Amino acid sequence: MAKTALLKLDDKEYPLPVMEGTEGEKAIDTRTLRASSGYIAYDQGYGNTGSCESQVTYLDGDNGILRHRGIPIEQLASYSDFVETSYLIIYGELPTPALRKEFGLRLRKNAAVETQIQKILEGFPTSASPMAMLSAMVAALPAYHPELATNHFENDLKNFDLAAAIAISKIRTMVSMIYRYQKGLPFMFPKQELPFADNFLHMMFSEPYQDYVAPPEVAKALNLVLLLHADHEQNCSTSTVRMVGSSQANMFTSMSAGICALSGPLHGGANVAVMQMLQSIHDEGDDGTRFIAAAKSGSKSNRLMGFGHAVYKNFDPRAKIIGEACDTVLKRLGIDDPLLTIAKNLEQAALKDDYFVSRKLYPNVDFYSGIIMRAIGIPMNMFTTMFAIGRSPGYIANWKEVASNPKGRIYRPRQIYVGPKQRDYVPMNRRGE
Ligand code: ACO
Repeated sequence: MAKTALLKLDDKEYPLPVMEGTEGEKAIDTRTLRASSGYIAYDQGYGNTGSCESQVTYLDGDNGILRHRGIPIEQLASYSDFVETSYLIIYGELPTPALRKEFGLRLRKNAAVETQIQKILEGFPTSASPMAMLSAMVAALPAYHPELATNHFENDLKNFDLAAAIAISKIRTMVSMIYRYQKGLPFMFPKQELPFADNFLHMMFSEPYQDYVAPPEVAKALNLVLLLHADHEQNCSTSTVRMVGSSQANMFTSMSAGICALSGPLHGGANVAVMQMLQSIHDEGDDGTRFIAAAKSGSKSNRLMGFGHAVYKNFDPRAKIIGEACDTVLKRLGIDDPLLTIAKNLEQAALKDDYFVSRKLYPNVDFYSGIIMRAIGIPMNMFTTMFAIGRSPGYIANWKEVASNPKGRIYRPRQIYVGPKQRDYVPMNRRGE
């Protein structure tokens, strides 16, 4: 017999269905509560609200588990690469060699960005935020691919494979264009013969008549950074993609909104904040002690950036992988980065400190990702755009779930109104008469 929860309110009982996911996650379905009782479920920030059923990613924050389509992130990080993991996240299965080739070819063929979109970029002051530039360029994609972005789920799903490849491949190219535009360098065309990560590094760092050929360690490190960001369940930006998509907005538009959500320092912008923090500790000649003391004050502006996570309350499995990779990559590239030493000292000190231990605050993926990106040659102001390239398969897979759900409805939360009660209109200039 199906399980129900019983809610007792004002001597009346309301049975509510109970749901259970494949990994035993439990929920009380409150959808009928308002109609039957007049009450809504209140959950500011949605920290305890399931907004959807999803088959893409399983995350158990208490036990530090992250799996895409059932496969643990540790295995993907060891054996897969960003393109293959993207396929898995988007299509639900690892590709056969033939499907992997086909997918790779679609990415390679759709790497170039339209000249008109280049002009949109050139309309920005070079000092503008790279994330603002990226979201604007992605928002412009429907104008140049109207047949893929009709704002009609059935139509848009017919062309899904091409739209997905365009989104992943062009977002990568756009990021390299933003970097070069800000530096006043000529744009580099993508090279069809290069793999995804190598092509990005070529578009970033090649010079006219002098190709940048990425050392294998660098391309591998980039693949790892992108792969570790590929999806992360219902985070702020992915939920934004789903919310915008639920209005039947096309995939590109929904992704552009996700990129805007990603730009904040508590989300995708955290890796920049981590590097700024490490740099200022270095510049002040501090060993991190003062920073830790300030972080314990409880003030939001003094937080130890790269520490804590909204859902991981044990450890962030991605942080473990990237922390280890940091050592290997820097060693292989012969880089001795003093910020890595500071980061390690901070981590050791915080992990012994009761303030952090009792609040279950551990390093998150951003604590070390900036150091690897710096070693690859990515400047700090571009870090969040790198996160956006990495997260694109997650946005696509989540948009697809929304678009393919025949029972889906527009996302429309409710609120508890706490403003003034009804009052009459009295123009300000008559008040003193
Ligand atoms: N440094 C110091 N104290 C912290 C930190 C931190 N980084 N994070 C949380 N705390 C403290 C809070 O002050 C609070 O203390 P209190 O109980 O004494 O009031 C307690 O820990 C719980 O904090 P919440 O804000 O409730 O934790 P929440 O889960 O809502 O926040 C968040 C998670 C936003 C990630 C937070 O830990 C934070 O701001 N971290 C720094 C920013 C960061 O690294 N963001 C990246 C997230 S990962 C990503 O987006 C890929």
